[in-house]
Amino acid sequence: MRLITLEHAGYVLGLMVALRPSYIHPDEHFQSLEMLTHMFYSAKGFIPWEFNQDNAARSYVPLLVYYGPLYYICKNIFHVVNPTILLYLVRAQNYLIFLLTVRAAIPYLIPNNSKSQRRAWLLILSSYVTWSFQSHSFSNSIETLILLGVLVTFSIQMRERENASLKITLIQSSLIVLGVFNRMTFPAFIFFPSLLVFWRYYLRKKLQFCTFIVWGAFLTAVFIKIDTEIFQSPHYVFAPLNNLLYNMSVSNLAEHGLHKRYTHLLINLPQLAGPAIIYLFPTSPRQATEYIQCLPWLTTLSALGLLSLFPHQELRFLIPVLPCICMLMSHHSSRMIFRAWVIFNVAMGIMLGLLHQAGIISTITNGQFYKQSDVGVHIWWKTYSPPTWMYMNKDLTATTTNFINDIERVDDIDFSNCNNQVIDLKGADIELANFTIHKYLENPDLNAVSLFFPKSVQSKVSLILDNENLTHSVIFHTFQHLDLDHFDTDDLSTFIPGFYQVNISYNDQEEAKSVM
Ligand SMILES: *[C@@H]1O[C@H](CO)[C@@H](O)[C@H](O)[C@H]1NC(C)=O
Repeated sequence: MRLITLEHAGYVLGLMVALRPSYIHPDEHFQSLEMLTHMFYSAKGFIPWEFNQDNAARSYVPLLVYYGPLYYICKNIFHVVNPTILLYLVRAQNYLIFLLTVRAAIPYLIPNNSKSQRRAWLLILSSYVTWSFQSHSFSNSIETLILLGVLVTFSIQMRERENASLKITLIQSSLIVLGVFNRMTFPAFIFFPSLLVFWRYYLRKKLQFCTFIVWGAFLTAVFIKIDTEIFQSPHYVFAPLNNLLYNMSVSNLAEHGLHKRYTHLLINLPQLAGPAIIYLFPTSPRQATEYIQCLPWLTTLSALGLLSLFPHQELRFLIPVLPCICMLMSHHSSRMIFRAWVIFNVAMGIMLGLLHQAGIISTITNGQFYKQSDVGVHIWWKTYSPPTWMYMNKDLTATTTNFINDIERVDDIDFSNCNNQVIDLKGADIELANFTIHKYLENPDLNAVSLFFPKSVQSKVSLILDNENLTHSVIFHTFQHLDLDHFDTDDLSTFIPGFYQVNISYNDQEEAKSVM
């Protein structure tokens, strides 16, 4: 009885969090929905570096396989043009497909132990990673699904030995190729488990192994061909290789942030799994020998070990191992740890799943920008990059700051054009923000600019607005926006959550122009 209640609470919480406007990381938009919306709806917006024809470092194939049907149905059958609806359909789909995949995988990965199977299911249902990361459109969320699929094929081959069919090998080969095209680090997750499968299975099934290789090579060629077409590139596009080469260069990685080698182990893993991490360490020699043959444990170890070699280490890179960690935890039944698990996940769920940078999507939803043929000038300051796909605008120009000699500038902005402009000022300083606002307002064709900013920088915005030539009005405000990037202990107001859209204009157009 009690278990049933817990399970239902998991579903409700999960769906509730999945359908909130929280925004965990720019990649959840820019590695997926941004490009899909450009493709299906001919919308314009930021093109992330990976999708630049010169870099061509991310494949379209996994995106089309996974989101293509939903986008196609929304666009061509239901004629959905409201990006908020599209966003929540994507999140609901992701949540649902994840649960179905987990449900199907558990009996293979925890064989013959219905109690642990049940417990693993509840743990995964009650993890904030399921509610937030898995429902959001990260490439890492797709990676989790592919990983579970591959692990199931491994488990079938190890268990059935002689009788595992060729079909399993073909599915496995397809999933691995798709996994590599989805994220080039995918092999890190399956490296250790695949050694085990190779020794136990493929060494005796050489013909199947050849089939695996040939079919994988064939699919790779097909994917390369598809990407080459979509990128309209003059030479073949092997996206995972381009991505790998890019990531091998430390100077490239430095642009994305360099981390200590132990970040995954000491910072990211605890944030991902909370109290569950204590179950990653075998406590007796007997358990150690069990673990060595246990697919979920080998997978976790493999991912942690190999991904830690890269100097760029983000929390979301590890999310595919969360179901594996829950499966390890499911063999234990400490009440205390379970209570800590619930508290940890509710707290993280509220922070990342409900509040994190949520004002950005609320503002876009509220403003219904997709209905406007001209949104004018939108300046975003000290927020995560605005998901420009949510403007659903075929004439949008999206611009951001550039750096020359480490000095941030706005050289790329064409101030003479004030139709459908989205400017991402990122973390620019107050002088640059002030300059951008005034420079636009000097344009006689423009009445007002919209400024979007978190409450945490309100005191800086007040300095800009405290100018006798300027007048402003608050268009939108929400308290639901947690900004973890601009805390300042000298200014406690930076800790208050919230997000604003204000319109700024010159007091008296004519007079102001003559003063300039
Ligand atoms: C912003 O720029 C205007 C016009 O250049 C200037 O008059 C004003 O002092 C500046 N404000 C701040 C806070 O720098």
